[in-house]
Amino acid sequence: MQTLLNVSNLCKNYKRSARFLSSGFRQPLGPISFALSQGETLSIVGESGSGKSTLVQIIAGLIEPSSGDIYIKGQPLSNLSQQQRCKSIRMIFQDPGNSLNPKVTIGRILAAPLELNTDFSADKIKQQIQETLDLVGLLPDYLSFYPNMLSSMQQHKVALARALILNPDIVIADEILATLDISLRFKIVNLLLDIQEKKGTSYIFVAHNMNLVRHMSDHVIVMHNGLIVENNSTEEIFNAPQASYTKNLLQSHQPDYRK
Ligand SMILES: Nc1ncnc2c1ncn2[C@@H]1O[C@H](COP(=O)(O)OP(=O)(O)OP(=O)(O)O)[C@@H](O)[C@H]1O
Ligand SMILES: [Mg+2]
Repeated sequence: MQTLLNVSNLCKNYKRSARFLSSGFRQPLGPISFALSQGETLSIVGESGSGKSTLVQIIAGLIEPSSGDIYIKGQPLSNLSQQQRCKSIRMIFQDPGNSLNPKVTIGRILAAPLELNTDFSADKIKQQIQETLDLVGLLPDYLSFYPNMLSSMQQHKVALARALILNPDIVIADEILATLDISLRFKIVNLLLDIQEKKGTSYIFVAHNMNLVRHMSDHVIVMHNGLIVENNSTEEIFNAPQASYTKNLLQSHQPDYRK
């Protein structure tokens, strides 16, 4: 498989606030290096505060790294225009329902990224919205609805459609399933996998539920204190974890994790 994303020595420092006696910086992230291939799903796991969201938000361009490089298809991400970047990497936010503006119809929500980032004609925008609705399994009738008229599952599908509408290479999802009950979580995950098969999209998936991680990932990165403690295929991580931290993490998810 072709390497799509390369992350090299990525670090993030935060300046300590004045109330801390020791001044200077603390480094909640890095150095982090890893690669992601085309059409692959990479899951990032680790306890709360291990740096998962910081890492994916840097990749999505929402936070500036303190140092390090990100390459997409061999090109530094920093060389890409904002439009090129939006077309390449899209993020679905935690609690997708809340990330949809309640005063904007689904049609407008889906048209906005196309109007901002492409020179598509009105007809082409309509067609792209239609195709994306089909892809996530939403009826065209929903275009005139407002987000709060939809079920939680449908809101997730709209957030997914918004992320997919520009045909990105990579979709990043940071704990998007936490607000759904378990049967719906698997439905969304299976939908994501279907879309991956059709479109070849790569996913970076931050998750806590080890069953879901095992079900959907090709690779898993385990993070602790801002560092990668293990990066391996899903099979190796679950069947032959190397780091003691990974073993503990899997054991602490015993109800979810069965060998
Ligand atoms: N803006 C900020 N200023 C200072 N420290 C921050 C900031 N944002 C995050 N941190 C710190 O960075 C560390 C990593 O946070 P992050 O949110 O990336 O963890 P996480 O693995 O996503 O946790 P969770 O599973 O709870 O979502 C934490 O110690 C957090 O307090
Ligand atoms: Mg987080």
